[in-house]
Amino acid sequence: MAGQVEGKVALVTGGASGIGEAVVELFAREGATVIATDIDELRGPALAGRITKAGGKAIFLEQDVTSEERWIEIVAEISKRYGRLDIMVSNAGIGIAVPSIVDMTLTDWRKQNAINLDGVFLSVKHCLPLMRKHGSGSIVMMSSLAGLRGAPGLSAYSATKGGVRLFAKSIAMECAAAGDGIRVNSVHPGIIDTPIWGKIPTGATGAGQNAPIDLEERAKVATPLGRAGQAAEIASGVLYLASDASRYVTGSELVIDGGMNAGGVPRRA
Ligand SMILES: NC(=O)c1ccc[n+]([C@@H]2O[C@H](COP(=O)([O-])OP(=O)(O)OC[C@H]3O[C@@H](n4cnc5c(N)ncnc54)[C@H](O)[C@@H]3O)[C@@H](O)[C@H]2O)c1
Repeated sequence: MAGQVEGKVALVTGGASGIGEAVVELFAREGATVIATDIDELRGPALAGRITKAGGKAIFLEQDVTSEERWIEIVAEISKRYGRLDIMVSNAGIGIAVPSIVDMTLTDWRKQNAINLDGVFLSVKHCLPLMRKHGSGSIVMMSSLAGLRGAPGLSAYSATKGGVRLFAKSIAMECAAAGDGIRVNSVHPGIIDTPIWGKIPTGATGAGQNAPIDLEERAKVATPLGRAGQAAEIASGVLYLASDASRYVTGSELVIDGGMNAGGVPRRA
């Protein structure tokens, strides 16, 4: 049986870890040729190597999504190697937490925006022309539950993810109006067990230690399904949006959050 993205060429940013890594693995298993990009030059090549060894098609390209120069090179490389791009998953992101917004430096605010929002803008600006050459395609942008609801302590992160949500809808409308066959949707994960939680810097400089977050404990209380989600559970939603199974879906938001956005449930002691 053909894979769900058989024969398609897919780019995944932030593809070396967590949700991005799970998407890269799933796309490759489902028959796509995957270009994983990331600043992580250790995990990225190892991932591509594992996939290739298992018979899949994946390469790793080092990329900082905030560099426009690098975006131009990445798209040129994809065009040269494959001549097309069918799927683009704009996933790279970071979270910077501060006790209160008054503690946030402008430097950290700008860093948060540069990766989570400028990076997504640049991905679309530079990938869309190549995607349009073949008259169909899917763009998936990684937002967050924090792009739908307020997140105290993560207000800058939340602002970027809210921005991504409406950016996705606006680009979906631009593509629909252009009749270019490209669909654009956002994904909104809740609390997902990935390395991001150990990387969230706290303190006014953003360069402090990891936040002392007990993920399972937090998820047990906050999530109606009573547990944190797994990266693979987000990847399966991304696969749906990337594949032709969602051919009538554009401008929409896929919430994968164990029920958090719907409400709360009383917890048994
Ligand atoms: N884990 C969660 O609970 C959760 C919830 C909602 C949304 N998200 C979003 O999902 C996406 C993936 O996060 P994750 O949980 O897999 O985290 P992660 O830290 O495991 O993966 C993020 C990846 O992005 C890469 N990255 C960071 N800065 C980069 C840059 N400038 N250029 C290129 N790559 C860069 C990192 O090296 C890393 O490999 C992010 O956009 C995040 O905001 C995560």
